[in-house]
Amino acid sequence: MSSSDGPSDFDPKAYRSALGGFGTGVALVAARDEAGNAHGMIINSLTSVSLHPPIMLWCLASSSAAFKVYTEAPAFSLNILRSDDADVAQRFSRKGDRVIPPEQITTMESGAPVLTAAVASLDCRLRLRQPMGDHEVIYGDVVAYRADPGVDALGFFRGRFVTLRSED
Ligand SMILES: Cc1cc2nc3c(=O)[nH]c(=O)nc-3n(C[C@H](O)[C@H](O)[C@H](O)COP(=O)(O)O)c2cc1C
Repeated sequence: MSSSDGPSDFDPKAYRSALGGFGTGVALVAARDEAGNAHGMIINSLTSVSLHPPIMLWCLASSSAAFKVYTEAPAFSLNILRSDDADVAQRFSRKGDRVIPPEQITTMESGAPVLTAAVASLDCRLRLRQPMGDHEVIYGDVVAYRADPGVDALGFFRGRFVTLRSED
């Protein structure tokens, strides 16, 4: 194994477990397929790359059955889930059909489906896609956003969904 393949004694399970100590929020990425159906998938790889201009990225597993949907869509939304969205998180991290019911979505600027209720929703137009290892890094320009800062957020820590609550 060369150095670019990782440590020689690399154990993927132990590595994933180590990364599980990095607690994150949970988001639903949503995009339309060619037929216009809204698809959603749970992610925690989103990152704010730039503020001026506002640019976000997220990472999509190359092995995902939904790879085509998210790499071909010209726009997507990133919806930060509320603490009472654990059922949404379960539903949209399962394999199989992950079409979002029309009554749960709206649109903003880009035309991508946006969740009607979320801690925050970032409406993005695709800027760039970059293959990286076993993932595709997907960058988007934020063209609109909205936020509900008063609500608790859903978190993910050591393989479990948790509630993220501010003290006051
Ligand atoms: C908390 C959490 C975070 C996840 N983050 C990502 C992610 O950033 N990128 C990704 O491709 N899949 C991520 N997944 C996996 C997807 O939600 C989903 O389980 C996976 O895409 C299912 O495989 P399929 O797309 O082949 O059906 C995450 C799952 C969970 C529970």
